[in-house]
Amino acid sequence: MKRFLIIGYPLGHTFSPKMHNLALEYYKISGRYEALAINPGDFDHAMKKLKTEYVSGFNVTVPYKQRIIDHLHKVDPAAAAIGAVNTVVCDREGKWSGYNTDIHGFLHPLKKTISEIKSCLLLGAGGAARAVAFALGDQPSLKKMDILNRTLSRAQKLKADLEKNAPSLQIHCLSGAPATGEPYDLIVNTSSVGMGTLTAETPLPGLASLIHGRTVVYDLIYNPARTLFLGEARRLGLKTINGLPMLIEQGSRAFYLWTGHYFPQKVRDILSSA
Ligand code: ATR
Repeated sequence: MKRFLIIGYPLGHTFSPKMHNLALEYYKISGRYEALAINPGDFDHAMKKLKTEYVSGFNVTVPYKQRIIDHLHKVDPAAAAIGAVNTVVCDREGKWSGYNTDIHGFLHPLKKTISEIKSCLLLGAGGAARAVAFALGDQPSLKKMDILNRTLSRAQKLKADLEKNAPSLQIHCLSGAPATGEPYDLIVNTSSVGMGTLTAETPLPGLASLIHGRTVVYDLIYNPARTLFLGEARRLGLKTINGLPMLIEQGSRAFYLWTGHYFPQKVRDILSSA
């Protein structure tokens, strides 16, 4: 019987057990995927304890994607560059290897349009923003990235780290909403503005002045399925993407690392209509 987990805090909203348990059932793999909420003060102790237990793999979410790295035996180079791990594979000796499947999850719904995206505006500079920035930074078509975050120093740190990986990308940190100028091909919200207690807020005032007819507006939030931000983009006639395809794809990649199988179409269909 295999055991999989998602660790984070708080975990009330997580969709991951449903996704992975459906896939385990589909492939008739004997195992269970459970949510394990860990209080921030107990994190290091909880990781030492988990190493002594039988666990095949786990996902890591807010706020532990960076802290988990201290507990890993090996870190995949892409995850190390981003500085964030969302998937851990555990071997029988209790050695843990870390990966970042958020990069692939983010790019998945952009597959058809990514080669046309030359400029982007990134909203936020937290853990999710780092995976998005590195995923975009690897695209040869992208020439320019503006980063707008409430805390400017965090955006500046992301810029400095990304520049090492994507030296030819022009990166600017903005200290306020961008003035009307050249429109962006892609605008991505990676911040928490639009969910939970911030559901009634939008991360970017003045969207209409920053777009052209083919601008893609992408919000990593999947609950609510249509944030105020995506609603505004829809009203402007733009192509929009919410966080659900990314969530499913990062989960599928994690499932593959543990079992050698991706989520089957049947499971993807159930999850997409949830
Ligand atoms: P995640 O791993 O999901 O990215 P995080 O690292 O806590 O989580 O980052 C949350 C992001 O949402 C950050 O960019 C944060 O801005 P700060 O760096 O200034 O904290 C942004 N954010 C959260 N609450 C916000 C708010 N009320 N207004 C504006 N930005 C907010």
